[in-house]
Amino acid sequence: MPAQLIDGKSLAETLRQQVGSRAARFLSLHGRAPGLTVILVGSNPASEVYVRHKVAACEKAGIASQLIRLDATCSSEALLEQIGRLNKDRTVDGILVQLPLPKHIAEKTIIQAIAPGKDVDGFHPVNAGALFTGQPCLKPCTPLGVMVMLEHHNTALRGAEAVVVGASNIVGKPLAMMLLQAGATVTLCNSKTQNLEEKTRRADVLVAAVGRPGLISAEMVKPGAVVIDVGINRLESGQLVGDVDFDRVARVAKAITPVPGGVGPMTIAMLLQNTLDAAESFASLST
Ligand code: GUN
Repeated sequence: MPAQLIDGKSLAETLRQQVGSRAARFLSLHGRAPGLTVILVGSNPASEVYVRHKVAACEKAGIASQLIRLDATCSSEALLEQIGRLNKDRTVDGILVQLPLPKHIAEKTIIQAIAPGKDVDGFHPVNAGALFTGQPCLKPCTPLGVMVMLEHHNTALRGAEAVVVGASNIVGKPLAMMLLQAGATVTLCNSKTQNLEEKTRRADVLVAAVGRPGLISAEMVKPGAVVIDVGINRLESGQLVGDVDFDRVARVAKAITPVPGGVGPMTIAMLLQNTLDAAESFASLST
């Protein structure tokens, strides 16, 4: 039987409407819309697309968004100055610096300059540490979106074997921590992992987050597994695909996310949700 499709697009739409209601309530309570500022340094084509989607989603949900564009040659100091100003701006609840940054700017320094309460990416070490130790915090949007999808799909995580392929700071590492806290036994694979298939075949929940088309074949998937594809890859033909061989894996898995229309829309919905969370907790502190 073919796998059930986990429809991230429609779930994200529902969540975005909920965020819209919260944003309207915030506006009536506080006399201003929640605010997100996105900083884009340079003009990486993929980043341009992501940023455009983020700003458009804010507008639709009633979040006041602002895009600050800086030249690819701008100095770290100029970027830090902008962040310092936004940290103090009481109308800005969330700050997002789109990654990757040009090579001459140290990402670590920039991320650490963002006020943790406005770090809607959840990348600041204060938020990463809080996630690690199970304390409330802003969590990275893509892994958070994966968890919300799994929860919405009633996937049992307690005692389940979860295997995450890809150990990035943005997706793999925080997702492993979230799955662990949900009671799963987690295996986090990286580019050095030996016998990857042996690990992935153990998974009740398999997440691919590497950025390599065709990485996960049907033979690597346990029959009945739930498969989440975080990869977004543009083939030479122009087709957008994930890391999972969708057509074949869908014959083995119990449920699977499509690309596009799976994790991608959830990432943006979580960014909006994080912005509302940041705005509401900031407002509750200052009343
Ligand atoms: N580049 C790719 N994904 C992300 C993300 O989630 N946040 C930021 N800031 N940059 C990214």
